[in-house]
Parts: sequence; structure tokens; C-alpha cells
Amino acid sequence: MAVDLSALILQRRMVRSFDGSAPSHDLLAHWTQTALSAPSAGNSAGVRLVVLEADYVSKYFEVATDSTWRDSAARAPGLMRAGAVVLACSSSEIYTERYAERDKSSSGLGEVDAWPVPYWHTDASMVVMQLLLLIEDSGWAACLWGNFRHGDAVRELAQLSPAWQIFGSVLIGRADGNDQRSSSLQRSVPVRSERVMWLPGEVR
Ligand SMILES: Cc1cc2nc3c(=O)[nH]c(=O)nc-3n(C[C@H](O)[C@H](O)[C@H](O)COP(=O)(O)O)c2cc1C
Repeated sequence: MAVDLSALILQRRMVRSFDGSAPSHDLLAHWTQTALSAPSAGNSAGVRLVVLEADYVSKYFEVATDSTWRDSAARAPGLMRAGAVVLACSSSEIYTERYAERDKSSSGLGEVDAWPVPYWHTDASMVVMQLLLLIEDSGWAACLWGNFRHGDAVRELAQLSPAWQIFGSVLIGRADGNDQRSSSLQRSVPVRSERVMWLPGEVR
């Protein structure tokens, strides 16, 4: 049966309270390998996904968070019941090397500082979006989680060299229905129709 992609996209929400179920190895392999079919600038293929299956989840939270958060954050117990974590990583070196190749060298993007838009992050976000939708489509749930704190410790746990930047972690599980809405959702933001601008007209 054809997937109703629009419905799937509109239905997907970040979930931050899981019931402790763990997706199978095969399902994780299917999600991650399929997600990596995302567009990639210059076909650089500079994104890697590191899968932490259920046995690694508590170790992940040990290094990715601190005890104050684990003991006091309202969402900590629900998030820590994730059944798997996928780290999305990319390496700027792969992109600068690719764009220094003969067919791309005229772009002048052979150095990191030359990139007006760092496509290694763009590629990682494309993969993550595909992963989130695949998870949703399978009846599972996920939350994209930033690693702006303790990033080095997470990289060490994942045995990644410093060349790999962690774009974010996808925490995966079955929703237990006890989600605490993100305070971000209380923000008043322009409705989607207002975020599409048509020419001729004023760009807001
Ligand atoms: C780049 C990025 C980083 C995010 N980081 C976090 C995070 O660290 N923790 C978290 O709970 N949610 C995080 N989110 C989820 C957003 O808060 C969420 O997508 C937003 O509030 C809209 O909610 P929805 O995705 O459920 O529609 C992140 C989302 C994106 C795109």
C-alpha cells in the first residue's frame, strides 16, 4: 500500500517519553541504511550513523548527560527508556576533499572556511529527517537530541575520531503516552502558510 507521505509528515512529532521497548537489530539496520539514501552534496556521502542498541543506551545517557539532569529533569526517565540511539555524524574533511576534486574545484570550496553553508551539516540533517520519517512510518517514535553538551564524551563512547562532528542523536522507542510537551511548542510562530513567500511580494 502506498504511504500517504503528506499525512506521515504532518503526523510526526518528537516524542520524549518511551516505554522501554527496543527495536530489533534488523529494523535498525533497515531504518539507518534506507535513511542514508538521502541527497548528498556532490555525492560526498560524508554522513555516518552510529547505532547504539539497547545495551548501550544507559551508557549513552551516562556520558551524554550529567547526574543533575538525570536526577532532576522531568523528562529524564522517559527519555532514558529509549530502546536505541542513532548518532548522526559528518566530517567536513570529506566535503572539502570532494569539492577540491577536478569537477568541483572551480567552486572554491576546498577549505572549510570557504563554505557559506556547511553542507556536511545539511547532509546530516537530510539523513536524520529521512530516519525520523522511517521510524514514524514503522509505528515507532523518536526525538532528535542535540549533543552540544558532553559531545566529546559521546564521540569517545562511539569511538569516533575528532574528524567526525556529531550532528545530533536520534533517541528511538515506543511512545508511552506520557509525553511532556516541549516548551518550544508554546512559542508563537508564524503559521506555515505565512512562511511561504510568493513573488512578486515582500519577503518577511
Ligand atoms: C536541529 C534540531 C535540534 C533539536 N534538538 C533538540 C534537543 O536537544 N532536545 C529536544 O528535546 N528536542 C530537540 N529538537 C526537537 C525540537 O524541539 C522540535 O522539533 C520542535 O519543538 C518542533 O516539535 P515537533 O518536531 O514535535 O513538531 C531539535 C530539533 C532540531 C531540528
